[in-house]
Amino acid sequence: MQADWQSEPDAASVADTACRLIGVAAKAAIAERGRFRLVLAGGSTPLDTYRRLAHSDQQWKRWSLYYGDERCYPADHPQRNSVLVEATGLPSLAGKHHPIAAELGAKAAAAKYRERIASAMPFDMVLLGIGPDGHTASLFPGCKWPEKTVFAVSKSPKPPPERVTLGPTALQNCRAMLVLVSGSEKADVVQRWRAGEKLPIATVADVPQAKVIVERSCLTVAADQPAAT
Ligand code: 6PG
Repeated sequence: MQADWQSEPDAASVADTACRLIGVAAKAAIAERGRFRLVLAGGSTPLDTYRRLAHSDQQWKRWSLYYGDERCYPADHPQRNSVLVEATGLPSLAGKHHPIAAELGAKAAAAKYRERIASAMPFDMVLLGIGPDGHTASLFPGCKWPEKTVFAVSKSPKPPPERVTLGPTALQNCRAMLVLVSGSEKADVVQRWRAGEKLPIATVADVPQAKVIVERSCLTVAADQPAAT
């Protein structure tokens, strides 16, 4: 497993550390290349990090925000990743904000986003979450993934069934990757990941530039489980 693991005492510390590391990466990227291209993770875990970022001092006009995946809902649906992110205030600060137009339908949105990100890679940083089944973005266990940078997902086990996701090669095409893990409900899947199970998150984050920021309660081994090596 190539990823570097950093444990934090609680979810707030995960968000604090993530916010700090993103800020450091942004300053370096802007100094070296004049811009910072960040892929946002969906779901609820990273929202605290986005709220902290929105209150931090950044060269915002140099920031471009992308998404690792999107749920096929109408553009203003409360469960859209872009709507959840917009509520944190982050996109209104960034110079550029590139939501995935999932309201067009998964296939059309995927084709459009493939064009959108073609000239944005390598990304400076990719943020990822992890689901209890080991999925990340909308890459779910047991699914075949086409060799495309962005593709449509149907029959997602996590609602909604239709989604758009960046593929492993696009998610790995980055200078830095942060996986944010908090919530004791993730302890079992973290244990499976650390035990070597070939989960989607394990595949995607198996790159030298990956760092896992994990809440300590997710590292506790259930009494009847052998400790991770
Ligand atoms: C989504 C996300 C998904 C998420 C994980 C974790 O669209 O649902 O992209 O991959 O990151 O399911 O979700 P939580 O952070 O809400 O636990």
